[in-house]
Amino acid sequence: MYFSTYLSCCLILGFGHLRDFFRRILVLPFTDYNLQGYAPIFLDHEDFYMRRGYHRVQDCFSRPIASAPDAWFDVVEKVRDDEEKVLDRPTKSRKCLNLGSYNYLGFGSFDEYCTPRVIESLKKFSASTCSSRVDAGTTSVHVELEECVAKYVGKHSVIVFGMGYATNSSIIPILIGKGGLIISDSLNHNSIINGARGSGANIRIFQHNTPSHLERILREEIAKRQTKAHKPWKKIIVIIEGIYSMEGEICKLPEIVSICKKYKAYVYLDEAHSIGAIGNTGRGVCEHLGVNTADVDIMMGTFSKSFGSCGGYIAGSKELIQYLKHHCPAHLYATSISTPSAQQIISAIKVILGEDGSNRGAQKLARIRDNSNFFRSELWKMGFKVLGDYDSPVMPIMLYHPAKIPAFSRECLRENVAIAVVGFPATPLMLARARICISASHSKQDLIKALEVIGKVGDLTGIKYFPATPKKQEEERDGIKIGCCSM
Ligand SMILES: Cc1ncc(COP(=O)(O)O)c(C=O)c1O
Repeated sequence: MYFSTYLSCCLILGFGHLRDFFRRILVLPFTDYNLQGYAPIFLDHEDFYMRRGYHRVQDCFSRPIASAPDAWFDVVEKVRDDEEKVLDRPTKSRKCLNLGSYNYLGFGSFDEYCTPRVIESLKKFSASTCSSRVDAGTTSVHVELEECVAKYVGKHSVIVFGMGYATNSSIIPILIGKGGLIISDSLNHNSIINGARGSGANIRIFQHNTPSHLERILREEIAKRQTKAHKPWKKIIVIIEGIYSMEGEICKLPEIVSICKKYKAYVYLDEAHSIGAIGNTGRGVCEHLGVNTADVDIMMGTFSKSFGSCGGYIAGSKELIQYLKHHCPAHLYATSISTPSAQQIISAIKVILGEDGSNRGAQKLARIRDNSNFFRSELWKMGFKVLGDYDSPVMPIMLYHPAKIPAFSRECLRENVAIAVVGFPATPLMLARARICISASHSKQDLIKALEVIGKVGDLTGIKYFPATPKKQEEERDGIKIGCCSM
């Protein structure tokens, strides 16, 4: 498998460079792509990757949708023309089973409790506050949202932002800077990486979800700094995720928290994919693994997954949130989260907690857990290499070969199943995968249909890397640590 994956990559890269060679001598001298006297605007490698890789498969990515991201949704067809450019056909869409949206609890579409309240808030407050939080961008709904989220996640205070990505990338540089040390999981999200780089702090990476390696780095760094610079780090922050978005793995929070306590390092936990999705009342990885929220110093999360809205939050002590409100540029200078989006989050949390007077929230939480565990075990039985842990709704199926990305995606779409496929640069070149996101809104029939299609396409594309014998699979599952970092 490894040999053929490497061979496939070499062929793609080799032919790309060959075509580029002829392009340089036969095409470029007679065209005027770049402005005279200017350096090329595109970066070398990125340009090569776009022309020789992405453009050939771009019909598999950024497919527009023409309805709400429910269990079934309308996917706009993309067609390729002769020049490998891909065009949308906005008039032609097909109804597909949705295995790609992060609509974990099913709040991404019409909800009998949330939607009327969102419409009311749209009528009253409009789509945008047209102002930052500190100017005229704080409505009564924003205040209620921060109180509601603080109570929900179990922290004293909360600050909310209009975008989850910007929450990480703008908050981390406010928390730490030069003279500080960030120790980051090797598979952390790009928003964390950019936030860490922008902070100016020293950055060390620990092996994905490996507490023993984290401890080794902490010991090394504390000792090194004290002997070399004769002064300790100003502060150390360890950054992890609740559920890793490309792996579907749940973090080893209890072990990491106890190591951080031992070495007096702060814990920053990104719960983008775990808040709302796991835990008995949807309170995320702390509830799921029995960790006291008081032991997690900075709790971050997004509203774009389980709550069917957009935006992000930081939850922490009263002093921490006060400090962030005075210093964070995304709070001071960016337009506040739209009021209807804020209302959607409040309403979704009320449903989750049963404060709407129904037990729909509890049913949704039970449904996502059952759906996820059923789907994962069936994929295992069929012989796929599936990453992640039980109870996690994120299920990457390993494809490995870059060439299998378009094959898998197009064949599934042909059968009206829409699945997000992920390759370089979101994953290492050799670790392409299809990422399935399970929702509480999927019915048993939906899941069975999806399994039939994935099974068929799996045979066609040759991605069943294990024999399909349930017994053997069970042994594999129990005996092997799964996760792409282990390969
Ligand atoms: C771990 C993690 N953090 C942050 C984000 C950014 O969140 P948003 O998409 O809400 O901007 C994502 C996005 O998927 C994520 O996976």
